[in-house]
Amino acid sequence: MSNPQQTLSIIKPDAVERNLTDEIKAIFVKNNLMIKEDKKIQISKEEAAEFYKVHQSKPFYDDLCAYLSSGPIVVMILEGENAVLHNRNLMGATDPKKADENTIRKLYGISIDKNSVHGSDSVENAKKEINFFFKS
Ligand code: CMP
Repeated sequence: MSNPQQTLSIIKPDAVERNLTDEIKAIFVKNNLMIKEDKKIQISKEEAAEFYKVHQSKPFYDDLCAYLSSGPIVVMILEGENAVLHNRNLMGATDPKKADENTIRKLYGISIDKNSVHGSDSVENAKKEINFFFKS
């Protein structure tokens, strides 16, 4: 691998609730992103607020934190070539309506809020987000 990376992926409550976890994991594996660690958890609204604090000035922040803490989620460390960008390409645009065909959000997303998955947006944030959920 010329540029191995790790990134954090979250399968959000809407997708866990619809039993899409295994299908979404299979997409990562099929596309050469190894699942190094994974766990199903439910976080508090305060933990969600900490996780999403880069968005704290946004009008959707409160709803976003309420949503991420509303049910079980699956958090994963994905590893592979250019994993951060590769995962974002597999996820597709934030708004499922704007996502390309065959991306995870196009296939499974319900709305911009219930968009089934989260993925780190940079190598630096991937490190922070992995550490948030998988403190060593
Ligand atoms: P995610 O990749 O988890 O990062 C922040 C989340 O905020 C995003 O996915 C969306 O689910 C949610 N969100 C809600 N409204 C908006 C918006 N207008 N723009 C961007 N993200 C939004």
